[in-house]
Amino acid sequence: MTASTSVDLNAKIPNNIGLAHDTKLRRALEKWLPNYLEWWNDMGPTDFADKPVYLRTAVSVSTDGWAHYEHVKMPDYRWGIFLNPRDPSESQIRCGDDAGKPAWHEVPGEYRNALRRIIVTQADTEPASVEQQRLLGHMAPSLYDMRNLFQVNVEEGRHLWAMVYLLHKYFGRDGRDEADELLNRRSGDPDKPRILGAFNQPCDHWLSFFAFTMFTDRDGKYQLAALAESGFDPLARTTEFMLTEEAHHLFVGQTGLQRIIQRTAQLEKLDPNGDVRAQGGIDFDLIQRTINYWFTYSLDLFGGEVSNNAADFFGSGLKGRFREMKKYDDHKAITGTYRLPHVEGGVLVDKDIPLRNAMNAVLRDEYITDCERALRKWNKVLEQEGVSRRLTLPNPRFHRHQGIYAGHHFNPEGELISADEFEANQPKWLLVPADNEYLISIMKPVYEPGKFANWIAPPTRGIEGQPAEFEYVKLHD
Ligand SMILES: [Fe+2]
Ligand SMILES: [Fe+2]
Repeated sequence: MTASTSVDLNAKIPNNIGLAHDTKLRRALEKWLPNYLEWWNDMGPTDFADKPVYLRTAVSVSTDGWAHYEHVKMPDYRWGIFLNPRDPSESQIRCGDDAGKPAWHEVPGEYRNALRRIIVTQADTEPASVEQQRLLGHMAPSLYDMRNLFQVNVEEGRHLWAMVYLLHKYFGRDGRDEADELLNRRSGDPDKPRILGAFNQPCDHWLSFFAFTMFTDRDGKYQLAALAESGFDPLARTTEFMLTEEAHHLFVGQTGLQRIIQRTAQLEKLDPNGDVRAQGGIDFDLIQRTINYWFTYSLDLFGGEVSNNAADFFGSGLKGRFREMKKYDDHKAITGTYRLPHVEGGVLVDKDIPLRNAMNAVLRDEYITDCERALRKWNKVLEQEGVSRRLTLPNPRFHRHQGIYAGHHFNPEGELISADEFEANQPKWLLVPADNEYLISIMKPVYEPGKFANWIAPPTRGIEGQPAEFEYVKLHD
């Protein structure tokens, strides 16, 4: 049975999954709803619950006009469940041993544990990021940026709904338990942390927020894209719709960093000694350290470069490559290899590993190419501003906690170094507490419509055709 694609917006939980006719599922989700709202009130953005925010809400699954914009108080946001429509002819297993066979509309027994693990791991990142960002409204550089933060937050909440739907609908008792646990873990909590490392790192100022949405949300894009190629049809269709929302999160990160970079270039020219901090700005070294920090934590999210799990997920058709159907001809990937330098006896030695075992690295390479595109844009801005500084991505071996390079030490160029040398250079290469203190000290909130903090350039345009001076968050009503 395929889910209906018509959208029921008036239901308690807006949806296009025919919830009105699925009493059991509806009851389960309606029971979960108050727990979700309690989590949102406890762990969502602090203190702005009664302020109307100019938010977009998903109201349809058609490619044009899927969203509606209006001022809404965040707790009143209509979190819904939406699956992308899919032509039944496209509904097939797209990779692995059974590529080309019909897709699954129920969970195959032999893949039940693997699928549940994939879904729970993705689901856990959604509330985690909301928790990481909950204090940022208090230091927003403008109402425009504050609105973007809250937009990202409510949509991460909706992404949690998207995943919890799958758990409730397809995984019975275990699924319900997992859905409850998703509201019990907390980002950074020593006893009940979120599952993945980057989602337990503090994100306590806007430089980290923009770097997080640029680099960590972008990992999300690639994970979702890999799941959109899944042979489990409901997972493929739900992640496909999540990607439409995700694009804005990446826009927020990429343009946010770009506006800081532009402003830094301007402040450097403005100051008689080229001292950006003397002008209250964010110097290029600090921006570079932030890129190094969040880029490398985000690389860890792809998992080990050599991975039996990755081979199993691909081989069984649960998780494909980025644009599996469009980019590749051979969907079985039984014969190919992937060359990867390994550390052996204190030096790097190239080794060829079977392609299926390298699927995490294959997906990660697509991600890196995408990040490089953004770096090129930022460096273009620096060129246009007439400053000589350029920003770079560190080598993927640098500062890793997962995969074959974890436990070794590299400099940002990817050369093996000693633990002592790494330790001594940390303040030069990575965000350190003194950086965070400085950033927090300059991030005073700017709540006047059309005004922007001194350390960031205004955006080139507003949201949904509105001007920059539009009252994106109504703080004074
Ligand atoms: Fe998300
Ligand atoms: Fe996101």
